[in-house]
Amino acid sequence: MAASLRRATVHDLCQMEDCSQRCIPERDAFLVQRFTVSVLCWPQLQWVAQGHDGRIVGYVTVDMDQREGIAYVRSIAVLPPHRRSGLATKLVNLAHSDMIRVYDAECAKVNVRQSNDVALKFFSNNRLGYTEHELMNLNHEEDDGEPFCVLRKQLRERQDVEDQPRPGAGDGGGNPGDEEVGPANHRPDDLGLEWLFI
Ligand SMILES: CC(C)(COP(=O)(O)OP(=O)(O)OC[C@H]1O[C@@H](n2cnc3c(N)ncnc32)[C@H](O)[C@@H]1OP(=O)(O)O)[C@@H](O)C(=O)NCCC(=O)NCCS
Repeated sequence: MAASLRRATVHDLCQMEDCSQRCIPERDAFLVQRFTVSVLCWPQLQWVAQGHDGRIVGYVTVDMDQREGIAYVRSIAVLPPHRRSGLATKLVNLAHSDMIRVYDAECAKVNVRQSNDVALKFFSNNRLGYTEHELMNLNHEEDDGEPFCVLRKQLRERQDVEDQPRPGAGDGGGNPGDEEVGPANHRPDDLGLEWLFI
């Protein structure tokens, strides 16, 4: 089924929630509030697929740790009638391009439940090329005991000169009135998002 791809806006939040709830078990589905944070903080990294009737049929949500240069794919879903036509691959690849172009990200990571065979195959197939990095337990109050596979994809070579500033990764020490250049420097853990997984 045909769908067009574009960046998500605040007008898509309710339909992204609907798509998430229809595709992902309740414990991991994202609500409007969660999408809002990502769309407002890292607008370039949120992509949706829109069906010919205007409904959102898929999305990818990404958070960016600009200090570390790591992009975290937080949630991805495509409605069943639109699956296996490469839609999710295109969404992730669009986000990859902007991770590099806008944020100069060094790598992308995704935490996938060990039982989610489809997602593990999806991220590790040779079109996306994520590789298993480590197995991890959440160890916090929302932990249901199931380990997560942390998958990782290198986006570019590590920088030799570690102290080169990344886009938007300033130290906040500018003078009053200085013009801010580049994307805002938000970190998932500053926003209390470090324990959100898919
Ligand atoms: C995972 C998901 C987003 C994939 O969406 P999609 O648009 O069907 O993915 P693509 O068509 O881009 O698939 C690319 C490749 O991933 C793998 N893949 C995707 N779905 C698969 C399935 N059901 N079984 C096995 N491999 C699968 C295949 O290698 C596929 O390539 P192929 O079709 O040429 O064999 C979708 O199945 C989904 O929404 N699942 C429910 C939500 C979810 O689990 N999200 C991930 C949480 S980490």
